[in-house]
Amino acid sequence: MGDKLLRRWRMGLIGGGPGSFIGPVHRLAAEMDREIELVAGAFSSDPGRSREAGAGYRIDPDRAYASWSEMIGRERARADGMDFVVIATPNHLHLPAALEALDAGLAVMSDKPMTATLAEAVALAARAAQGARPYRLTYTYGGYPLVREARRLVAEGRLGSIRKIVVEYSQGWLARPVEAEGAKQAGWRTDPAQAGAGCIGDIGVHAFHLAEFVSGRRVARICADLNTLVAGRRVDDDCNALLRFDNGATGALVASQIAVGERNRLHLRLYGERASLEWRQESPNTLSIRDLDGTETILHAGTAMGPDAMAATRLPAGHPEGYLEAFANLYRDFARLLGGEDNGLLADAHEGLRGMAFIHAAQTAGGAWTDLELPA
Ligand SMILES: NC(=O)c1ccc[n+]([C@@H]2O[C@H](COP(=O)([O-])OP(=O)(O)OC[C@H]3O[C@@H](n4cnc5c(N)ncnc54)[C@H](O)[C@@H]3O)[C@@H](O)[C@H]2O)c1
Repeated sequence: MGDKLLRRWRMGLIGGGPGSFIGPVHRLAAEMDREIELVAGAFSSDPGRSREAGAGYRIDPDRAYASWSEMIGRERARADGMDFVVIATPNHLHLPAALEALDAGLAVMSDKPMTATLAEAVALAARAAQGARPYRLTYTYGGYPLVREARRLVAEGRLGSIRKIVVEYSQGWLARPVEAEGAKQAGWRTDPAQAGAGCIGDIGVHAFHLAEFVSGRRVARICADLNTLVAGRRVDDDCNALLRFDNGATGALVASQIAVGERNRLHLRLYGERASLEWRQESPNTLSIRDLDGTETILHAGTAMGPDAMAATRLPAGHPEGYLEAFANLYRDFARLLGGEDNGLLADAHEGLRGMAFIHAAQTAGGAWTDLELPA
């Protein structure tokens, strides 16, 4: 076996401290296929909590750092230093952490949204374009086998040309002002300085990415109605948007975090000239295709899928895979990318910038139709 196959890429995690949500998910997902290992981290802005997290992850205590700057500097000096950083902090830290890593010649896997503001994303995209090392984003839902299969079916014309796209992402966990009660995940998400945007940036951007990823179409225009329904909240917590795609297809995007009773309701429907498809994140292992004659075909993960979707499936059909495996698919793609193989399915800086342009357009157009334009 050659060195390339034996190589495990060394990861440094920024964020993922005690009590955090997504950092530990990155760790689990990255290590699932044994192509990556967590070796270092700046897990918290508090050095003691960073050390505590490092012990929990069972890494060398000397490699649980007090800050990402210290981690980048000290890891560079090691022969076995990390190969890439993962950014899983609140949004306002995505830009400075990514710039420092790219400047040090490290690859970056960042969580979404790319940054807190569009201006920051422009700066980061420019820097990523100059760098020799990859910059990619974890848009989780692009990692599901049946999402990849849906993308393939659309690309090969199974639905005919796409006429309408409806995407909904509803959650209910911010239906009350839990940020005032000390809920960690709600605190920074409802602080404009740390989050940049509310619901539209937290989950609306996932829905936006999913619609573009599966349809292969680009949102060209948007008319968004952003609302704050919980009194005293400083960011949007509910959004309804009309979309117009580059091929003339119409669309609607609903994102809400005050939808009482909804857990993680991400639903996608695409309507073409000949057929439609539907995928639901909470039942991710089936995909419905409905034809003009009224027949409905239900595809099951692991059964008769194309190569990208089969490659994203680890178990025989009927053995449910879900969120962690989808996340792990992003990391397997990333590991292969570091080794020089790019399947083109991971979101890059350009996709990140599109997401930020979407958020910005929704925030600034005051409910009017506006072009979704990428700044030069
Ligand atoms: N891909 C997804 O589906 C998904 C899901 C959840 C969150 N996210 C994104 O992940 C990011 C984190 O979200 P979360 O819910 O895990 O937040 P969280 O509040 O649970 O965790 C944030 C972590 O960052 C750490 N941190 C803060 N400042 C730091 C610093 N200066 N240096 C090092 N660590 C620092 C905190 O200590 C904490 O451990 C956000 O950008 C969010 O949008 C993505």
